[in-house]
Amino acid sequence: MGEARVDPDNRATTRSQALYQRARSVIPKGVYGHYGPAIGEDSPVFFESSSGAHFTDIDGNTYVDWMCAYGPMILGYNHPVVDEAAARQMEAGNTVSLAAPVLVDLAEKLVDMVEGADWALFGKNGADSTTLAVMVARAATGRRYVVKVDGGYHGSAAWMQAPGNPGTISADHELVLTVPWNDVAALQQILDEHGDDVACFISSPYHHPVLADNELPAEGYWPAVEGMCRKAGVVIVADDVRAGFRINLAGSHVEYGFQPDMVCFGKALANGHPIAALVGTNELRQAAGDTFYTGTQFFNAAPMAAALATLQELEKIDGARLITNIGTRLCAGLVDVASSHGHDLRSTGVPGMPYFRIAGEGGFRFHARWIAECVRRGAYLLSYHNNFVSAAHSDTDLKATWDIADQAFTSLSSTELGS
Ligand SMILES: Cc1ncc(COP(=O)(O)O)c(C=O)c1O
Repeated sequence: MGEARVDPDNRATTRSQALYQRARSVIPKGVYGHYGPAIGEDSPVFFESSSGAHFTDIDGNTYVDWMCAYGPMILGYNHPVVDEAAARQMEAGNTVSLAAPVLVDLAEKLVDMVEGADWALFGKNGADSTTLAVMVARAATGRRYVVKVDGGYHGSAAWMQAPGNPGTISADHELVLTVPWNDVAALQQILDEHGDDVACFISSPYHHPVLADNELPAEGYWPAVEGMCRKAGVVIVADDVRAGFRINLAGSHVEYGFQPDMVCFGKALANGHPIAALVGTNELRQAAGDTFYTGTQFFNAAPMAAALATLQELEKIDGARLITNIGTRLCAGLVDVASSHGHDLRSTGVPGMPYFRIAGEGGFRFHARWIAECVRRGAYLLSYHNNFVSAAHSDTDLKATWDIADQAFTSLSSTELGS
């Protein structure tokens, strides 16, 4: 795959845009769900190929990809070790009338790797693991309410969506209570009012909403939450679907000093192969076994083999630390480039999943224009969502991205400053 650099003056997206128009006649919205909002008049929409930290769109433009498929790509696209493990399992069998031995190998690996995990169950998407976690918490406690953080995302099932979203009804949200992030007092108030009917508190380990600065836990936040939930008999569910394996291979909770009762994984677990996992403690083993939650594809063996290979590879290369280092350099370099043009670029969240925002003049509009200019030059970033760093991003990718960022600022300086 060629170098990720695109000439903005000769870049075409005509094939992508034409196919998008075709898509719109047979697929509602054309490209939907979380892939939809990224599409603008000038966007690449469809890929032709991918390799390492790059993808090439169907117009032949190659990008360094800082979205990593919204998280799943952690070792690089088409990773030979992972894909070979999946292919080998595929040859032996993928979806068969019996479970494959790799089911047990993978569960053992997660129990071994993840701090506090005594068992594992598998599904396909992150929402499978968050849904199952809530069901297990309810089965274990006999309680009804779920407490979540305002703006926290746990998937697209009706109860997880914002009230009023099309297709949801008020009953979907009746048993979901929300608290602001980092607000121990608000959580205590809810536990005081509803404590004996609260099954679980579900939250990502740090707060990564869209269109807002991402926020790390305040000093002492998680230990305080843990203490309050233990006292009230409320199950703690860490939703590590997005951040999992980019902060700490033993679970992001280790970094923030608390022990959840269950941890949800998805996204990066198999470097893009479809599988999610829920792990939990012995106290919840009985409830987890009693809870019926399954799907036709849940026993696909090839994604399990891919997940096992991904975890082994991440351990081998000390993946979370490597990604954190690359992300730290990415952020520092972009902040420096911005500063050299007189802009205050803020990078929030963790280095492996940075959320960028240009503070001050021009606000979000200027920021979005700058990101669009980066995309036009071959650095695929998103303006309104956290970006993702992988172990496959090289020094060359970093340098290319800083150069692109620099040129993007230059291109905007005459037209946008002060607008
Ligand atoms: C924190 C978190 N939890 C759960 C999910 C849902 O995962 P999926 O889209 O695979 O169902 C997501 C997806 O973005 C997520 O970021």
